[in-house]
Amino acid sequence: MKNITHAVIPVAGFGTRMLPLSKSVPKELLPLGNRPAIHYVVEEAIAAGIKHIVLVGHAQKSAIENYFDINAELDTQLRHKGKDELADSLNWLPEGVTVSMIRQGKALGLGHAVLAARPIIGEHDFAVLLPDVVLDPYTTDMSVDNLAFMIDAFANDGHSQILVESVADEDVHKYGIAQLSQAFSDASDIDDNTNSNSSVKVAGFVEKPSLADAPSNLAVVGRYVFSNQIFDYLAQTTASVGGEIQLTDAIDALISESGVNVTTMRGDSYDAGDMRSYMQAFVYFAERQLADDK
Ligand code: G1P
Repeated sequence: MKNITHAVIPVAGFGTRMLPLSKSVPKELLPLGNRPAIHYVVEEAIAAGIKHIVLVGHAQKSAIENYFDINAELDTQLRHKGKDELADSLNWLPEGVTVSMIRQGKALGLGHAVLAARPIIGEHDFAVLLPDVVLDPYTTDMSVDNLAFMIDAFANDGHSQILVESVADEDVHKYGIAQLSQAFSDASDIDDNTNSNSSVKVAGFVEKPSLADAPSNLAVVGRYVFSNQIFDYLAQTTASVGGEIQLTDAIDALISESGVNVTTMRGDSYDAGDMRSYMQAFVYFAERQLADDK
């Protein structure tokens, strides 16, 4: 049984699509309702069984690390004022869960960011969660669905797993797009109506294709479960689309060596790295939480 306990969350990007909000606040700390966006992503990882989270950051992103640390001065002050419950709520990481940060140094792309975590991940197989994408925690069960499902699937057959969802034709150029070995082009072709995620073999990925070149409309959502071999391929990957070292190129190399599957997503995903969809996500999370407060 290949148990996944480690996860990498790349947080080094400048977040230019979120300016001016992201000028002095890391985009990962911008609120979705009453929590910073990255809070939900870390909660999702923990619900799926992750114990060790590695943030791959940048000098200007140390506020993210602080969010997951204990602020001893604030803690003492709150307890001194009898606000123990509030103090406890700030130290919410479960016992045994660690969050550490390593720096990317140069901004050479997503593949390069994931490779930067190798000194901490070591020989472990691991998950990757892109913090721009926040999965709806209200309509799925994070301890069973999506990342948790992918971790289980990996434990069963050893195939790396990539989460995908169908996107509209006009959005295909923004994502890594899956090419399937079987005649599936849409998530609904794959789903077997069992009310659970489905996982099928993938033939390859094309990073940000034009609609004409896209092999399907199944887009990589930003959740991955990798066998440790991906590091060897990342180390050999050279810059391609956008002059960056792309994770999708290393995945293509991994496919020819060992199996890689796509898992169809359950529930909704929100892009918190793009201003328009961030605002929609904020409204959704805020409305949910205001309704719960009633
Ligand atoms: C990255 C990946 C892409 C994936 C996307 C999901 O792109 O390279 O394959 O579909 O995340 O958000 P980015 O959005 O960082 O340009």
